[in-house]
Amino acid sequence: MSNPAADTARVALAARLSPSSLAHCERVSVFARGLAIRFGSDADEAALAGLLHDWSRDDTAAELLAYAQRDGLPMCDVDRAVPYLLHARVAAAQVREAFPGIAPAIVDAIAVHTVGEVDMTDLSRIVYIADMLEPSRTFEGVLELRALALAPDTTLSQLLFASYRRSVLHIIGCGRRVHPDTVRVWNALVAEADA
Ligand SMILES: [Fe+2]
Ligand SMILES: [Fe+2]
Repeated sequence: MSNPAADTARVALAARLSPSSLAHCERVSVFARGLAIRFGSDADEAALAGLLHDWSRDDTAAELLAYAQRDGLPMCDVDRAVPYLLHARVAAAQVREAFPGIAPAIVDAIAVHTVGEVDMTDLSRIVYIADMLEPSRTFEGVLELRALALAPDTTLSQLLFASYRRSVLHIIGCGRRVHPDTVRVWNALVAEADA
């Protein structure tokens, strides 16, 4: 078992992603490395997970649905209505196929980078946050979240809570469907914040 070298991952990504998607992955990788250092996680693992997280971002809806069906990934109505949401779990499965020795923690972080999961690992939290806060993001509130990330007393739990809250508000503000897992994750994060 060993993780692919970052350059090996880059070559594989460059063969499948658009230049803009590849650049996003590079920014997420850098941001994830910084968060890992900040919060005491494995920086190389975070950087690699950030690099690979959008392996399937450029797949079409038809490709995502076909792969999810072929691989037996559980799908709900929201996944079928918004196949883009599948790109995280499809990416995790495809990365595991492409790099058989890769750490399961990285695969898991890739799988949950859009919706999250209850009891997210620190690595999954870091990739989720890095994907949301990387420097090209411009949504309302991103500057406050980046400031929170830099504030010395902020915990990873607090940063995830604030980021996830912003994401849920955005989904509802746009009038979009809320994935059932999002409701579960949000309730778990509220419970974690209350504990
Ligand atoms: Fe993504
Ligand atoms: Fe992304």
